[in-house]
Amino acid sequence: MSDGSRTVDKVKTLLKPFKDSDLQQTIKLYDSLAETYDQDLDMLTYRAPHLAVDFLDVNFPGVREKVQILEVACGSGLVAKLMAELGFRHFVGVDCSKRMLDQAAKTGLYQDLRQALLGPEPLPAQTGVFDVVIGVGALDAGFAPVSVVRDLCHTARPGGMVCMVRGDHRGAASEGYREDLQRELQLMEDKWLWRPALKQSPR
Ligand SMILES: C[S@@+](CC[C@H](N)C(=O)[O-])C[C@H]1O[C@@H](n2cnc3c(N)ncnc32)[C@H](O)[C@@H]1O
Repeated sequence: MSDGSRTVDKVKTLLKPFKDSDLQQTIKLYDSLAETYDQDLDMLTYRAPHLAVDFLDVNFPGVREKVQILEVACGSGLVAKLMAELGFRHFVGVDCSKRMLDQAAKTGLYQDLRQALLGPEPLPAQTGVFDVVIGVGALDAGFAPVSVVRDLCHTARPGGMVCMVRGDHRGAASEGYREDLQRELQLMEDKWLWRPALKQSPR
């Protein structure tokens, strides 16, 4: 149950990332938010999962029922729920928050759920096997560090799709993160590690 005292502004503040160094705080925050996360987000117009899944709906060419999906920062499973509505079936989820993973488990959609704090800990997934690697709301200061993007690419099979959606947060830490991310994505493109399919800013 949502505690009723949460206002839209409060929820927005809770969902904002911390400073770079506070990854343990991120775990604590999401552990504390997990039980009411879905209801709290109903108070916001949280479009990020829809943006990612709409993109896949239009651009993913494979047979949906057969493909293997790795979802990083899966949270309570909102993205997998939307993807399942489109016919995707095989999900492995990763998140640093045990309590968010407990919520994700309740969806019954994930074959496997793995707890890892990405950055300090390695991505617990095989390389080169996933048809789709997806992460929504994971890339920002205080969340998954920029270096994780390269690991995500490595877990995708050759020709697989990596789909990341991030909020356009303000503040020095987020702006620094965005610059580092752009630099890393360009380096990866220069090395032919990936090719951008679409880069889109939310309206
Ligand atoms: C804004 S929520 C997004 C959850 C879900 N993708 C969604 O759209 O509803 C961010 C999620 O990322 C997870 N997270 C943040 N930093 C992480 C990290 N370094 N490693 C693993 N998970 C992380 C949090 O626990 C939380 O579940």
